[in-house]
Amino acid sequence: MKIICLGTFKGGVGKTMSAFNLAGILAERGKKVLALDMDAQGNLTNNIGIDRTEENFKSVKDILEHNIKFEDVIIKSPIKELKNLDVIGSSFYLIETEIRLMNRANRENILKNYIEDNKDKFNEYDYVILDTNPSMSIINQNAFACSDSICLVADADLNAIEGIQLFQALWDNIRRDLRIEDNIKSIIINKYDKRLNICKDFMDFCNEDNDIKNLVCKNVIPRNVKLQECVLEAKPINLYDKKCAGYSAYKKLIDELRERGVL
Ligand SMILES: Nc1ncnc2c1ncn2[C@@H]1O[C@H](COP(=O)(O)OP(=O)(O)O)[C@@H](O)[C@H]1O
Ligand SMILES: [Mg+2]
Repeated sequence: MKIICLGTFKGGVGKTMSAFNLAGILAERGKKVLALDMDAQGNLTNNIGIDRTEENFKSVKDILEHNIKFEDVIIKSPIKELKNLDVIGSSFYLIETEIRLMNRANRENILKNYIEDNKDKFNEYDYVILDTNPSMSIINQNAFACSDSICLVADADLNAIEGIQLFQALWDNIRRDLRIEDNIKSIIINKYDKRLNICKDFMDFCNEDNDIKNLVCKNVIPRNVKLQECVLEAKPINLYDKKCAGYSAYKKLIDELRERGVL
């Protein structure tokens, strides 16, 4: 079982998009995948077509606050074509959890301990894929601390570089205190448009910067309207359109992430 987390300090770059499609494609290939939504916005949960507003909806909040039984929080195969994809969802109420965790001992490791305590269940999965929001909240630190690999996501924009550098600087300090090895393993470039000079300049910058050049995946994800559409249909791109550029890009990215030891 490998735990992979999507993150960075900029919103709208494609963290959720990437979590959704990596999970969908890997599940279709026969891998057992658990998608875990750590963002109070619940976009990943929503993209998968789960109603997170339902009364009694059990979510990652119940893991972090109440140590809920795994059987009671797991949503099995919410996308009927993808029997191998299970989900632990999130909802708006996760915002309250952040405050409640403040006084907990070892609060950054609650998810890690939960996975350890339920390792027979988690070990049934080949991949656990975590989606986070752009912050260093305690909730996100729980995601980063339990991940074998953090994949940072950037759109081709200089603000995204700042988001990555800030993430690296902050997480480096925190993980040292937590005695965790450097687990930032790659940077995924999304919304890339090869016709634009600004995108080429962006790649040149990435390839020259010593702190990030070895992390940047060569296989970029293009800006692609089919990727936008598939989310609205609550289907990952492999169930929506296998002919589009977005699907081939994610397939190549998966190969590269495997070569990099992330998958
Ligand atoms: N490669 C892409 N091509 C077109 N639209 C994209 C692409 N990646 C993301 N989007 C769109 O951009 C918006 C933000 O993406 P999202 O994955 O929610 O970002 P984040 O999770 O980083 O905040 C969404 O509307 C999504 O559909
Ligand atoms: Mg998101």
